[in-house]
Amino acid sequence: MAEAETDPHEARRPGASLRAASVSRAFAGVQALRDVTLEVHRGEVVGLIGPNGAGKSTLVNILTGFDFPDEGSVELEGHDVTSWSAHRRGRHGLARTFQHGRSFRGLTVRENVEVAALGTGTGARTAKRRADVLLERLRLTNYAHLPAASLAHGDERRLGVARALATEPAFVLLDEPAAGLPEAEVPDFAAVVRSVRDTDDVGVLLIDHNMALVMDVCNRIHVLDHGATLAQGEPKEIRANVDVAAAYLGETAVHGNVT
Ligand SMILES: Nc1ncnc2c1ncn2[C@@H]1O[C@H](COP(=O)(O)OP(=O)(O)OP(=O)(O)O)[C@@H](O)[C@H]1O
Ligand SMILES: [Mg+2]
Repeated sequence: MAEAETDPHEARRPGASLRAASVSRAFAGVQALRDVTLEVHRGEVVGLIGPNGAGKSTLVNILTGFDFPDEGSVELEGHDVTSWSAHRRGRHGLARTFQHGRSFRGLTVRENVEVAALGTGTGARTAKRRADVLLERLRLTNYAHLPAASLAHGDERRLGVARALATEPAFVLLDEPAAGLPEAEVPDFAAVVRSVRDTDDVGVLLIDHNMALVMDVCNRIHVLDHGATLAQGEPKEIRANVDVAAAYLGETAVHGNVT
């Protein structure tokens, strides 16, 4: 029987949700995720934090169709999309950045954003316009004509965000987008994340080790530790959570960026 095609616009309704339901995933001997349930609605920023190896990127991979759970499911506005390819989920409004950048290094910064827009089936003129707006928004206009390979790490991360936004997603999953960003530029980036949520009504899942950024922009925070949910709640609850502090102690000492 042919699989029913979901209305592509359904996931784009205000308040629509992307949900991982009781997801588990193991890699040879490592339980990367253990019965994790997490939901993001359009118009909110959900933080996903936890020490190195906690399972954050694995969860992003599973939500976006770059990996598949051993148990549990992924739902987009109530529809089970667990078996959907990344490409199909992309057509239904999901976009992501990669922790280890995947821009086209030989193309210019501008071309990278245009190609991402063109991938959604838009025309060249619209792609160019989206690139203009996004390069400005992500403070990349001055680098537009440079090869992506020449960007500093922090700028390359923001190019990833511009590429994801060029698809005009309903949900965007950002895997450490502020890594390598000078501390002085973090407030500016926080403003971008807020505007994606508030102006574009996008649901944002934000992974970052910069706790100042996470506490500042997130409506809710979900904490993973060794593949399991350790805590979830509003930033002030998470900040006060002793277990979270314990899980993070070594981590923050290394990163030194918790305020
Ligand atoms: N493809 C894979 N093959 C084998 N093990 C994997 C694979 N992907 C992830 N893992 C393991 O699963 C666990 C979770 O990894 P994951 O990358 O999801 O963590 P993370 O929370 O994103 O960490 P970080 O903060 O370092 O990015 C780790 O122990 C990792 O080594
Ligand atoms: Mg990761």
